[in-house]
Amino acid sequence: MPSLDSENRSILVTGGCGMIGSNLVARLVKDGWDVSVADDLWRGKIEYLYGDDGRPLIDLDRKFYKTDLCDANECQKIIGRTDYVVHLAARVGGIEYVFENQGDIFRINNLINSNVINAVRKAGKDRIKGFLYVGTACSFPCTRQNVPDPEPLREDELFPAYPESAYGWSKLMGQLEVGYLEKETGIPCCTLILHNAYGTPTDYGYRSQVIPALIRKAVNFPDEEYVVMGNGEQERAFIHVDDITNAMVLALEKGWGKGCIQIGPSYCTGIKEVVETIIRISGKNITPRFDTSKPEGNKARCADYRKAREVLGWEPKVSLEEGLGQCYEWIEKSIMKDGAYKDAKVT
Ligand SMILES: NC(=O)c1ccc[n+]([C@@H]2O[C@H](COP(=O)([O-])OP(=O)(O)OC[C@H]3O[C@@H](n4cnc5c(N)ncnc54)[C@H](O)[C@@H]3O)[C@@H](O)[C@H]2O)c1
Repeated sequence: MPSLDSENRSILVTGGCGMIGSNLVARLVKDGWDVSVADDLWRGKIEYLYGDDGRPLIDLDRKFYKTDLCDANECQKIIGRTDYVVHLAARVGGIEYVFENQGDIFRINNLINSNVINAVRKAGKDRIKGFLYVGTACSFPCTRQNVPDPEPLREDELFPAYPESAYGWSKLMGQLEVGYLEKETGIPCCTLILHNAYGTPTDYGYRSQVIPALIRKAVNFPDEEYVVMGNGEQERAFIHVDDITNAMVLALEKGWGKGCIQIGPSYCTGIKEVVETIIRISGKNITPRFDTSKPEGNKARCADYRKAREVLGWEPKVSLEEGLGQCYEWIEKSIMKDGAYKDAKVT
């Protein structure tokens, strides 16, 4: 079983320029891993790979591959050079983007997953020491997410499958394929099923998820109207990116061969509460408009994370209030700094 003490410490993070990926890269570099990144910069940014000291976290000439993982040959070239793979690359977006682009998201995510997993399979057990995949809570059956204040979801409730969105289906297909990979090749695998992740650096434009979008609107208010999608009754289990990178680092040590493990808090927070907290942080006098003509997704979900606690020793640590404050500060600074306000106005 591989461990952090193993001699082989080279690791590839696909989607490493994204919100979760860039945080993971920083953490792995700090922990002494030899990190490389593959990303097509569809949503991630190269500047996310710079540390607080203004220097790149990795050697960008040698260790950064700007590549579209829909290209099977590219996957093959990159993946054959590393010992561990953390596969995060995917088309990810806010609910409106996801529902307007279902076919594209389904096709691209399945292509990326299948290419990456096949390249790992071809590289084989002697080369790849571990493969970490991330699934999503969006893959749980919509029938289990249609009542307010629900029982926390368990991993064994993923099947029979009935996700609401093509995004949820595509991530679930990847999870299945990882299972087959592990069975057929003996390459140690692990899947972390993440609930609603937020943190910085983050996209806050038209493809952004609920928290960055709501923060952007508060920063831009009154120039941008404060519209909330749906009636605000929807509830999610929000999880800060620092808690996610912790889970990933623990999974690289203790998760191999343990199947899928949920990462998220065991309670829900309503969108209305998130809105109120953001408005309070903004210090502005904002009256939100709830637009029920917009998609709002499943009613509610949260995680029974007992497996994460037992297998990984993981617990969420960052409070929503603290996390939202940190995000607000970052998004406000970014909007002020590079005039990103203009782009962000495309909602
Ligand atoms: N953010 C969440 O709430 C959440 C929840 C559950 C699971 N996840 C999963 O976590 C992973 C990371 O998500 P994130 O929130 O950091 O999103 P993100 O969009 O910030 O990161 C995804 C990265 O993948 C890259 N990418 C997209 N298509 C690519 C392609 N064809 N080739 C190469 N790179 C490509 C993007 O440019 C981006 O940098 C994803 O797999 C996502 O499905 C995220």
